[in-house]
Amino acid sequence: HVHFRTPGAEQKEDWLTGSKAALAGGVTTVFDMPNTNPPTINRQNLELKRNLVKEKSLINYGFYAGAALDNLNEVKNFEDVVAIKIYMGSSTGNLLVDDLAVLEGFVSEAKPILAIHAESEACLEHTLSEFKGEFTPSIHSKLRPPRCAEEALRNILNLALKYKKRIHICHCSTELELKVVDEFLNRGFPKELITIEVTPHHLFLSDKIYESLGNFARVNPPLRSESDRLAMWKGIENGLVTMIATDHAPHLKSEKEQEYLKAPSGLTGVQTMLPLLLNAVNENKLSILDIANLNSFAPAKSFNVASKGLIEVGYDADLAVIDLDKLWTIKNENIYSKCGWTPFANMNVKGRVEKTLVNGNLMFDYIDGINDYFGDHLGSEVTFSR
Ligand code: DOR
Ligand code: ZN
Repeated sequence: HVHFRTPGAEQKEDWLTGSKAALAGGVTTVFDMPNTNPPTINRQNLELKRNLVKEKSLINYGFYAGAALDNLNEVKNFEDVVAIKIYMGSSTGNLLVDDLAVLEGFVSEAKPILAIHAESEACLEHTLSEFKGEFTPSIHSKLRPPRCAEEALRNILNLALKYKKRIHICHCSTELELKVVDEFLNRGFPKELITIEVTPHHLFLSDKIYESLGNFARVNPPLRSESDRLAMWKGIENGLVTMIATDHAPHLKSEKEQEYLKAPSGLTGVQTMLPLLLNAVNENKLSILDIANLNSFAPAKSFNVASKGLIEVGYDADLAVIDLDKLWTIKNENIYSKCGWTPFANMNVKGRVEKTLVNGNLMFDYIDGINDYFGDHLGSEVTFSR
């Protein structure tokens, strides 16, 4: 789950810098979100993005289509996308489906999986209108409270239950959401129809961090309380969480340095996810096999990606070589993403990516974290076995 900003916002990231950040983080395949400019909401814009990426990508990739209020007929039969992304609440860009009748149309008629940004626009608007106080970065989590995620999730799950539709919940971030999913499963919602994704920032950061990071911690859905953060780990432990995905969404330092109301939401993450998880292995929070499942096997299976997710004869040689014992410090100057910052700067971690292979080619070799080796083979678009 990445926002590589092609086309339209290449000043924040371009496909080459995004590719390098992914490779340095041991990531071999990315699925790109549709809130680009133009947005990926029709055949023409999808092909435009595809043609640009094809010539630049050092990693493998897939594309999400985006839902809009008026494009159901355009995208409902797409077979060459990972899923259709539906923003139930506004975030970066202007993709929004805040009309339950339109949402029902997507659930009942669209063939692709639906990937949901579950924050209710009505709830967000109401919360903002009631808010009295000063607009500083730390109020971001209060302006997008867990109940807005809950409301959206209930709406989409009710529809999915009615039409038996396969749903993917993007960036689940609250205990409340996991409780709602549990409640639906207990009511007979088929487990094979739902997959749940959690981000590294919701696993490793909480709303305490605004104090030091300010807008550099501003993201949607927002960072949550410490108990919500721990609930995400519980969800991994008990298997309710299907996968970990970055939601890598770069913005320039200069944009983040503006006052709260002007600063865009989104964090970088594609380069730091695996090191953070390796560190978690060293802290006995999960196993190496858990990572292989959460970052590779489960996403490939959930989206029916052909020949990926396992190290097996007949599968693609997309591999990360890691040193589980290496101690190092994450630094902004090591970030290959064009915007050059990470919310995890100055964190000490144990576990580093040493080499990354894509389709059998050596594409990243660690040298010193600044002048590393990158290969020049182009990656390919994933295919689906559905
Ligand atoms: O924080 C976010 N940033 N959340 C989103 O949903 C979009 C993303 C972006 O594109 O910047
Ligand atoms: Zn996203």
